[in-house]
Amino acid sequence: MVEFELLERDGLARLGRFATPHGAIATPALLPVVHPDPERQPCPASELRDRFGVRALITSAYITWRTPPLREVAERDGIHKLLRFDGAVMTDSGAFQQHAYGTVEVGPEEILGFQERIGSDIATVLDVFTEPEASHDEAEAALNATTDRIRAARAARPGLLAAPVQGGPFADLRARSALAASAAGDVLAVGGVVPLLEQYRFRELAQVLSAVRPSLNPGAPVHLFGTGHPMAFAFAALHGVDLFDSSAYHKFARRGKLLFPDGTVAIESVREGICGCRLCAKLPLDRVATLPPPEQEPHLALHNLLVSFEEVALVRQAIRDGTLWELAERRAAVHPALRAGLRAATATPETFWPAEPESRRAFREVSVDSLRRPSAVRFVSRVRAFVADRPLGREIPAVALRPEYLSRIPTRDRSDRAIHWNATTPLGSVPLELTELYPVGPYLGLEEYELPRAHLAPAQLSRNLAGRPDLDADLAPDWTDSWTVRQFRALLDWAYGRAVAVRLAPELRGERSRRTGRLRKLVRGAAPHFVVGDDGLPRPTFRGAELLHAELEPGRLRVVVADDAVPFVREGRSLFSRFALSADPGLVPGSSALLVTRSDELLATGRLLLAPHEMGRLNRGVAVRVTAHRSRPDPSGGVPADDDSPRSGGSDDADPIGPE
Ligand code: GUN
Ligand code: ZN
Repeated sequence: MVEFELLERDGLARLGRFATPHGAIATPALLPVVHPDPERQPCPASELRDRFGVRALITSAYITWRTPPLREVAERDGIHKLLRFDGAVMTDSGAFQQHAYGTVEVGPEEILGFQERIGSDIATVLDVFTEPEASHDEAEAALNATTDRIRAARAARPGLLAAPVQGGPFADLRARSALAASAAGDVLAVGGVVPLLEQYRFRELAQVLSAVRPSLNPGAPVHLFGTGHPMAFAFAALHGVDLFDSSAYHKFARRGKLLFPDGTVAIESVREGICGCRLCAKLPLDRVATLPPPEQEPHLALHNLLVSFEEVALVRQAIRDGTLWELAERRAAVHPALRAGLRAATATPETFWPAEPESRRAFREVSVDSLRRPSAVRFVSRVRAFVADRPLGREIPAVALRPEYLSRIPTRDRSDRAIHWNATTPLGSVPLELTELYPVGPYLGLEEYELPRAHLAPAQLSRNLAGRPDLDADLAPDWTDSWTVRQFRALLDWAYGRAVAVRLAPELRGERSRRTGRLRKLVRGAAPHFVVGDDGLPRPTFRGAELLHAELEPGRLRVVVADDAVPFVREGRSLFSRFALSADPGLVPGSSALLVTRSDELLATGRLLLAPHEMGRLNRGVAVRVTAHRSRPDPSGGVPADDDSPRSGGSDDADPIGPE
């Protein structure tokens, strides 16, 4: 049974831990393709581990099988001995050679049995490779054959099994294939895409990945066969790919080509030391360019490998930081084909929404395409619904807003009529009460730098507001209170629904940070019931959770805890995926939720790591991180307790050359 644990996430990407008999793999991971013949490796597999920290690789079981001397050693001593590599070894079945050469002389049972005998950690079913140009009938026939082979292989193999996903360019077949692979596979290996990758057909690749995503088992790592160019790693990870494999590092080297995340460079044109990687620091590329080609090749191959590993590390770090969309957009600037691929992905934002985190530390504009990110589109559509039944407001430019003087905004005119304010933001007109929410709150965009600074001065803003001839406003100090009430009421509405906001707002009082003026807490008496996070969302303490629990009908905002885990969650331990019975489908990763027993007794409150549809389907790891429970009623994790603590997160902090 597959053991895959999700630790952090961004987009559809997962930072995970995938256990194999030869050690765990930190995902997303690049498995370099290593030739089974040591004579044909630019760097021996044993050295890959020692010099580059490689813990997992992929090799061809088929080539091993059809080459008698290799086959003999593999069958006698095992594939790890043949490669002199003690990390995880995934083996491929020969489907690609079948595609490349028209036929292979091995059957599906034979090659599966061989992978079993040589001790492969992850064996791959011999699938029927389907061309992107295949007809629907051809693709369907190939898919049916692949599905039969997957079923037979599962029955024959107890160890980890990679089940290929084919289906050509057809969304219906890709979805069917993803379901069939998910029913039996431990690794779900999306295949038939090498021609798309080689020909930079990223738009079609995005369509394939979007078609398979909803049907893939979220509890199994997803492999993408042939993702070799580092410029595509962020793109693939964003689509939920956990494992890349590629021989590109070697293939490109043989043609005198250097890989970089922002493109490919021919060594013959290099006259400068354009790379500072570990290898090129010792032997600069302008020197390498003067060597005869056979001497260049190993250097290029290892440079390509190093650069590729570094890019995967950047992808993993970006997942931790919540900046993977930014990285993918930066990489997409490398080639219009990649940009077209990213646009195709954002054309179906609903593919991303179920797993798209509720908020992030920052939203940094990279290009005009940034506004198409699913989180931005989701926010805009929620704002539209939010303002549907309220009168049109007056507009303030968002760049003129700072939290410390938001509280000076008048809410009623002298005739006691409510004044609604909207901020003009890069995402359109947004009610002022919601402007601290992700993505508009921590939005860092071009506009901020294009408008004159004078615009930003608080005094200027006050004059602007006070001087408005259409606004006969009373500048009395109680504005602050009425504004605060209106703001937190809107935030409760946004997060938990209008009925909750109407019921709870009169009982609560807002507290602002003395230092920044930001709304920090909602209290009743002296007890905090909600703490406003850096993302602007009111997160319940245990007392707040009790209020929500009483106000919201059963099911809403709930995650139901299995009986066995109840005592642990009650004491504040996180809820593990396999003990999560069900969850409100309206929740997304990062949402605050109520953890309840099957009879709806409230145990704790916490924040989702997994999306509702993933809970129970990953058999390892945390589903909900508990933040508060009865005996520790205030949130501990996720939200700073100190109301005057410096603001962590937000666009400015994250940016060393930011405006503050
Ligand atoms: N290597 C590259 N593409 C494929 C594929 O579609 N299936 C298998 N098994 N290996 C591949
Ligand atoms: Zn280099």
